[in-house]
Amino acid sequence: MSSCRVCNSKILPFMSFGRMPIANGFLPPGSIDLEEYFFELAPAFCDVCGMFQIVEQPNPEIMFHDHYAFHSSTSQFMIKHFKAFSDFVISDYFSGKNSPFVVELGSNDGIMLSNFKQAGIDHLGIEPSENVADIARAKGINTISKFFDEALADNIVTQYGKADAVLSANVMCHIPNIHSVAKGVRRLLKSDGVLIFEDPYLGDVIDKVSYDQIYDEHVFLFSATSVRRAFGDHGLELIDVFPQATHGGSMRYVLAPVRSRQVSKRVSFQIDKEMAQGLHLPKTYQKFRKDCETSRSNLLKTIEDLLAQGKRIVGYGATSKSTTITNYCGIGPQHIEYISDTTPIKKGTYSPGMHIPIRAHESFSENLPEYALLFAWNHAQEIMEKELSFKENGGKWIIYVPRVEVIV
Ligand code: TMP
Ligand code: ZN
Repeated sequence: MSSCRVCNSKILPFMSFGRMPIANGFLPPGSIDLEEYFFELAPAFCDVCGMFQIVEQPNPEIMFHDHYAFHSSTSQFMIKHFKAFSDFVISDYFSGKNSPFVVELGSNDGIMLSNFKQAGIDHLGIEPSENVADIARAKGINTISKFFDEALADNIVTQYGKADAVLSANVMCHIPNIHSVAKGVRRLLKSDGVLIFEDPYLGDVIDKVSYDQIYDEHVFLFSATSVRRAFGDHGLELIDVFPQATHGGSMRYVLAPVRSRQVSKRVSFQIDKEMAQGLHLPKTYQKFRKDCETSRSNLLKTIEDLLAQGKRIVGYGATSKSTTITNYCGIGPQHIEYISDTTPIKKGTYSPGMHIPIRAHESFSENLPEYALLFAWNHAQEIMEKELSFKENGGKWIIYVPRVEVIV
């Protein structure tokens, strides 16, 4: 039996997705015969503190390193999203402040902080993956390549002073030692500072059966209930929540030193909504397990039926999420020819575990397939809008969130 990372209660996984490789562990050419790292991907729900978490997580150094494959700025939509996020912080939390200072945890290639830089605001990025941090530095964004914890928080305070805002996007749910981060943030923030972060939202994952949000890097899937409890232990109060469309449904959480700011009505509204959805009930997760199994068999059947008709299927977007789909469903090169991806360092590699070749987008545009399995479903609108010639040539999209469907 394992212990909850937040409250230490005993937890048991309610299902297993089986043996999983590292989600972003794309294999360079020539290395597919080498032994790959696998762990068991099994999620659990702690009914004492309400935190959804995976039980076993690979060591962070295996996941985030100097050849980390995920680069934030591959999506135009996300570039716009982070501009809007930055504008929201500046207008709602920095107005009237004299030389505010913002720190971002997991600043990747600087997609968010470049907006603060352009606005002339003092900023600091914390990004442990050296290769993406270098891209940010080349854009003039001050970046430290370390994992954030209390000791680093103290160093930042000594060197730069306390922060008016600590931000993070799709990062907080990656950090197993949530207590160390919460303590560090509390020490780093000014007494009127705010912590604002957003991550894929548990309520959406359950509702849309987007189980591919569950992978090694996502040690937690947060809800307003679990965030309020986990950070409340460290003197940070949940004061506001804002649902987001990104990553198939995310939540932005605003926290502040306890009793320093008014708590918005949206917080209790969201928590009531989570109760009404049954996010606190074990039966919700039993149903989710069955929904995952149904989704898997429907997806495999759809693919196998098309292959039986002699159709060509390729994958679109070698996302981290796709590692859960391909390995849990057993989708390999016998099903899909290759996965098209625009990220330069993924080109020529093989997908983790199932070893599907990853090719540059030209392979797709120069020889359009009949079907494309949209692994990057969270970017569906942007991708479908730009792949008009695929559609005009009779190409069809296969999606699996919120249900398995062929889009004609
Ligand atoms: P994400 O779902 O974690 O944001 O990853 C998106 C992946 O999909 C990333 O590897 C880049 C790739 N991608 C494309 O290949 N084409 C596109 O148009 C978009 C938006 C993403
Ligand atoms: Zn717990």
